[in-house]
Amino acid sequence: MILSIESSCDDSAIAITEIETCKLLFHKKISQELEHSVYGGVVPELAARLHAEALPKILEECKPYFDKLKAVAVTSSPGLAVTLIEGVTMAKAISVALGIPLLGVNHLVGHIYSLFIEKETMFPLTVLLVSGGHTQVMEVKSLSEISTIAKSMDDSFGESFDKVAKMMGLGYPGGPLIEQLALSGDRKKYNFTIPLMRIPKIAFSYSGLKNAARLAVESGAKEDYADIAASFEHVATAHIIHKLKKYFLINPPQSFAIVGGASANLYLRSQIEELLKPHGASLLLSELKYCSDNAAMIGRVAVEMYEKEIFSSLDVLDISPKSQL
Ligand code: KG4
Ligand code: ZN
Repeated sequence: MILSIESSCDDSAIAITEIETCKLLFHKKISQELEHSVYGGVVPELAARLHAEALPKILEECKPYFDKLKAVAVTSSPGLAVTLIEGVTMAKAISVALGIPLLGVNHLVGHIYSLFIEKETMFPLTVLLVSGGHTQVMEVKSLSEISTIAKSMDDSFGESFDKVAKMMGLGYPGGPLIEQLALSGDRKKYNFTIPLMRIPKIAFSYSGLKNAARLAVESGAKEDYADIAASFEHVATAHIIHKLKKYFLINPPQSFAIVGGASANLYLRSQIEELLKPHGASLLLSELKYCSDNAAMIGRVAVEMYEKEIFSSLDVLDISPKSQL
């Protein structure tokens, strides 16, 4: 069995995965959404303190599995430096105490493998990752063959939802709140410009749209918020659809997946489903409970890394907050 730890942002999670079958034997996550909600976003210092409280509590519940552990895995990049270090320090301590190898897992690879929790992998795959930290398209052939096709030049898809929700005083995380509010709004009411329409490059940008939404919020009344949310969600999604359409002209998709916290967004899902139809491509999604950050996805990657003996040594494994794919 492998014990895996996730603490890259505001979720403290630990999982136990059986190596041979990929079966998830234990998974517990303690989210900090409530604590950060009053600030309209994640406060790193507070997040680190909450991890220091939550992780040992969850670990206590894993004690019955300790004598069966063959390795300990942890998210070591990318993420918030002060929160990554909480998980990495705990993983190193477990590795020393139990004399088992250490596996440093990339969080973005974790999101890709959230598709395969308790399942066989299925590659090749074109993957759209939409989370609080990332908006990127990747071609994935295997664990070690992941190429990034496009990414955001500034804010991410999820982050822009968080910021717009904060402007409206809705709370955190903003994604589900904006999605809910948008249901009662008119998507065409505000004519926000789709980002990067005239730039041929396949890339993403959300800072301009976020600022356009800010102007609308500042000059609008509370009754306009649903229309602003709906128009914002529509254009944020149209931007992704426009760039994917361009990319598919050169590289038609066969199997396409959406992963990351914002892949829970139903409007985005439905628009991508429509886009894939003429290509006859299949759409893969993670189970809803594994879209947002969790340790089960880290454990699933760890099984693959364990089999390939991609271990990290105690003195070499360090956090790498900005490392990408
Ligand atoms: O993957 P995740 O849990 O954490 C990161 O790795 O960043 O993603 C969290 C992000 C937040 O920005 C949250 O607002 C966004 O995903 N999100 C959504 C929705 N649910 C979560 N964004 C849009 N629509 C949603 N339904
Ligand atoms: Zn994530």
